[in-house]
Amino acid sequence: MGDRVRIYEVGPRDGLQNEASAIPLDTKLEFIERLVAAGLREIEATSFVSPKAIPQLGDADELVTRLPAASWVRYPVLVPNERGMARAEAAGAKALAVFTAATDAFTQHNIGMTVAESLTAFEPVLQRAGELGWWRRGYVSTAFGDPYTGAVDPHQAISVAIRLLELGVDEVCFGDTIGVGVPVQVTALTAAATKAGIELDQIAYHFHDTRGTALANVVAGLGAGVRTFDSSTGGIGGCPYAPGAAGNLATEDLVYLLDESGVEHDVDLELVLDAARFITAAVGRRLASKVGQAGGWDASTGKPVGRG
Ligand code: COA
Ligand code: ZN
Repeated sequence: MGDRVRIYEVGPRDGLQNEASAIPLDTKLEFIERLVAAGLREIEATSFVSPKAIPQLGDADELVTRLPAASWVRYPVLVPNERGMARAEAAGAKALAVFTAATDAFTQHNIGMTVAESLTAFEPVLQRAGELGWWRRGYVSTAFGDPYTGAVDPHQAISVAIRLLELGVDEVCFGDTIGVGVPVQVTALTAAATKAGIELDQIAYHFHDTRGTALANVVAGLGAGVRTFDSSTGGIGGCPYAPGAAGNLATEDLVYLLDESGVEHDVDLELVLDAARFITAAVGRRLASKVGQAGGWDASTGKPVGRG
């Protein structure tokens, strides 16, 4: 496996779905343009879920038709069911993510189905996307803990991941939806997953920084050989169905860590900081990420950079 890291940006979806204020479509598109300019190559653009469940992303159909044309960028969209698949297809999407969890309690609250029911619902969706040649991701949320029932056995998350891979996904993404995981758990989950036959390049991690452990968890994931990590520019978002899920790992914090560690990736720190300032201003929030506040660091002068 190469050492290059893929940064999978979730701000436009996971970030904006959680914002109370309605964000104009043009603002979302400008945010995505800035992410593309910053070098992000995988940008989860929106969700084709029920607009009653997530009104913030009710403009998904138009948004997808107006995404910046950039052949090197993949724009996955979240799809919960066949209705969502039909909408995504009509809008011109070319990549999707289905989402379930390690635990029934969370999926019941999130999508009104048990894990088993969700996998049944995804079957025709993933099959259709496969016929169309789309890239497909499967999320396993609550892989480190459930907000309603507590601790989660890694094997529970792994068995859901294996089912998703059997249904055709290219990649599974283990989510720490409520930000309770710590590095030893990441190491253990990765080892158990590969032992169960999942390839390292089929694994992605989605960490929330709720308790300040997200970057430490990334380091553990890197050490275990995983090369795909999710993050949200400006650290915006979380999940409205997971109490206390505030704090996606900020893309700028991840980029700084990778840069200073000599790990190759595609993203420019100063341009991500521009995008972070743009979107936090648009949603009316302070830029709270560590690197957003301190700036990057120029080792030749000792001075911060990109602080705006
Ligand atoms: N797109 C648009 N509308 C949809 C839809 C979709 N993909 N799926 C269902 N709907 C509509 C139905 O038409 C129906 O509308 P109506 O009340 O006007 O008749 C309504 O939503 C309910 O449909 P139903 O099939 O009974 O679904 P549900 O109420 O059990 O909801 C989900 C299931 C999955 C559609 C819904 O829970 C959902 O969209 N959840 C999203 C959760 C999410 O995105 N969480 C954040 C990610 S972590
Ligand atoms: Zn998230």
